[in-house]
Amino acid sequence: MPCRKSVLSLGNLCVLSITQLLVDIIHLSSEDGQDKAKSNDQQEKSTGVTDQSSKASQKQDEATGAAQQNDTSTSATEEEQVQLQNTKEEKPHAEGTAEEPGQPDMCNHDDSISQVQETEEKKDEKIEKGNTDSDNRREKENDRQSAASRKDMQEKLETLRQELGVQLTSHSHVMLHELLFSNIITRLDLMYMRQKKIRKAVQDILPHFLNSSLRELDFGRTKMFSEQDMCKILFDNLHKAVNLRKLMIGRSCYWRSKIFENLCTKLTHLPQLTELGIQYICTPEMISGLSESCPLLCELNLKGSEKITDQQCEEIAKCSSLKMLDISGTRITGKGCWKIVDSIKNLSWLHHCAFNCNSDSLLFESRADLFDRIKEQLIHGDATTLVRPDLSMRDERFNLKNFWLFNPQTEDLLTSVLFPHLEHIRLDFVFQDMTEEPDVSMLTTQPKLKKLQANLYDRCSVDLVRRMVEACGSQLTVLHLHLADDWFFVAEAHNVVASCCPNLVNLTFSGDYKARYSLEDSDERLDMGIPAPAHQHLEHLNLTGVISNRRLRFVLSHTPALRTLHLDGELEWLHDATFTSILETNPLPDLEEVWFNVSTTVTLGTVRLLLMQENSLRCIGRLCHMGAATMEEYQELLSLVRKHNLDTKLIWVTDERIK
Ligand SMILES: *[C@@H]1O[C@H](CO)[C@@H](O)[C@H](O)[C@H]1NC(C)=O
Ligand SMILES: *[C@@H]1O[C@H](CO)[C@@H](O)[C@H](O)[C@H]1NC(C)=O
Ligand SMILES: *[C@@H]1O[C@H](CO)[C@@H](O)[C@H](O)[C@H]1NC(C)=O
Ligand SMILES: *[C@@H]1O[C@H](CO)[C@@H](O)[C@H](O)[C@H]1NC(C)=O
Ligand SMILES: *[C@@H]1O[C@H](CO)[C@@H](O)[C@H](O)[C@H]1NC(C)=O
Ligand SMILES: *[C@@H]1O[C@H](CO)[C@@H](O)[C@H](O)[C@H]1NC(C)=O
Repeated sequence: MPCRKSVLSLGNLCVLSITQLLVDIIHLSSEDGQDKAKSNDQQEKSTGVTDQSSKASQKQDEATGAAQQNDTSTSATEEEQVQLQNTKEEKPHAEGTAEEPGQPDMCNHDDSISQVQETEEKKDEKIEKGNTDSDNRREKENDRQSAASRKDMQEKLETLRQELGVQLTSHSHVMLHELLFSNIITRLDLMYMRQKKIRKAVQDILPHFLNSSLRELDFGRTKMFSEQDMCKILFDNLHKAVNLRKLMIGRSCYWRSKIFENLCTKLTHLPQLTELGIQYICTPEMISGLSESCPLLCELNLKGSEKITDQQCEEIAKCSSLKMLDISGTRITGKGCWKIVDSIKNLSWLHHCAFNCNSDSLLFESRADLFDRIKEQLIHGDATTLVRPDLSMRDERFNLKNFWLFNPQTEDLLTSVLFPHLEHIRLDFVFQDMTEEPDVSMLTTQPKLKKLQANLYDRCSVDLVRRMVEACGSQLTVLHLHLADDWFFVAEAHNVVASCCPNLVNLTFSGDYKARYSLEDSDERLDMGIPAPAHQHLEHLNLTGVISNRRLRFVLSHTPALRTLHLDGELEWLHDATFTSILETNPLPDLEEVWFNVSTTVTLGTVRLLLMQENSLRCIGRLCHMGAATMEEYQELLSLVRKHNLDTKLIWVTDERIK
């Protein structure tokens, strides 16, 4: 695909120059606009803006053939007429790279050449008239000067507008559109938020990007998108993005939910949508008719929308292409969820439990309710006995890849054999509410299981951890263990993991603390005799807990391929010498990131050591947490980085501090 590459880099250049032009125009036109606001000259207030739309109009003309069209338009506003004028001027430059035909609702179709010409003349008149009017209104002493500077400004603006028009109309390819849009909003965001006076100009421009070339719109993407006026304008123009694939309305719009009230009407114009997120603010009205409006929908995220209840499940269940559904934090119960799981055969990722599953009894019960219903599938003959199902009994109807159980009993776990595609299982335990630990041997029967997340919230049962890890450890690539207990008990879990999980890529241990037992006694329990390396492939390690010297040596002796290391929790017993000795046996050649995110006894000496080592270190932080770290020493390290021309970021507190 070398061809594509060259197109892109060319595109990049154009995108940059277009963006710059646009920014210039916004600046000029906002000054211009202010100027004119004084003299009540409305017509040209939003100059510059209009060029934007011109490429849209331009494309329309190309696609449909302007000559075929009748002079029947009665609705063209002055602004539209100005656009048309530009359109005509720019036409010779068009290259016809349009990927798809223009959309009828994008701009006015009924404008003919003759009208354009007429408009052009009218506009010229208007401009002259405008000038005359305002000139007359000005004080005499200012007259000549300001007229001259205005004229100057106008000429500049005109040149810029024409240039912009040329550039924009020659790039309608979808990929370039995205590049351009993305560049422009990044450039404008801060300006928009800081300078009120340019807002109008930006508000006039951005809607023009909501056309058939747009594929993705995320209201959380920039700050300005959730600013009241902009949010409203984008929403009002949403129906023009007829080829939109992905629409995200998230937390940033929480206070703007009123704007989105009518979303369902807009959705009827977006039949290509495959991903829709309406987090926290979704109402039943917003998704009414969803399955018909967006028949291709694969991902739906209604997370945190409390107004969504079982009543909406019927509608959701009709979205037959859904693969991913997040209804966590809604009021949907197990019953409603069952309806969805049962109807949508292709559903593979379901997020239902609220984030904090055990903190909200309502949601926990609803999840349990769901699995009760699934359990019914397994009951044979006598309705009170649950038969342990064999593989042949598997019901291929359930495609779920994830599964989350809270205080599961053995029978709950058995239901998971109904999900032969299971990749990720999460099991939460609060032992004080449990009568007995479940039999977890079913974990051996999940051929695709890759990720196990086990949260033991009030005690570390090493026995349970062992049984889980022995059952499926060899196939896991991701293991998250949250073991809330004294490090004394958790240490043994380390041995189990090191013995049973040779294929891990990601490993997280969290939750442990130091209480009754001494560090020495606890560390003693680590089995230093386990043959190293136990985790050949481990790349990402998070340890959040009591991180003793011996613990770190133990874990790192098993991870020759480590790339990121996050240390958090209690780091005040950790010493520089430990790093020195670790690096002697395992030089960590692939190391990219190291984080100490609470204060530690490790000093900047270790940072220096890591910097001078042969590795790929890109980032190390937060140095402010390190033992006796001073700004001077930090500056020294910075100059070390410069001297050796290392591509490593040293993070004192945050990234900004460095710059
Ligand atoms: C103009 O409009 C009339 C009536 O709407 C239609 O019959 C005719 O074909 C149109 N002409 C062109 C050039 O589109
Ligand atoms: C959509 O807008 C962009 C930028 O305004 C433009 O380059 C592109 O040609 C337009 N696409 C269509 C199909 O009109
Ligand atoms: C379900 O998935 C299969 C395989 O990916 C696909 O062929 C089929 O069209 C999907 N069904 C629906 C209703 O989307
Ligand atoms: C493993 O951890 C890395 C770094 O945090 C992350 O980017 C990646 O998505 C994780 N992989 C899986 C399968 O969870
Ligand atoms: C480790 O923690 C960091 C910060 O919370 C997170 O971004 C990263 O994904 C975690 N890595 C793994 C392997 O879970
Ligand atoms: C350390 O990182 C964790 C996530 O990895 C974060 O939740 C915590 O707030 C951080 N602590 C500090 C002191 O920055």
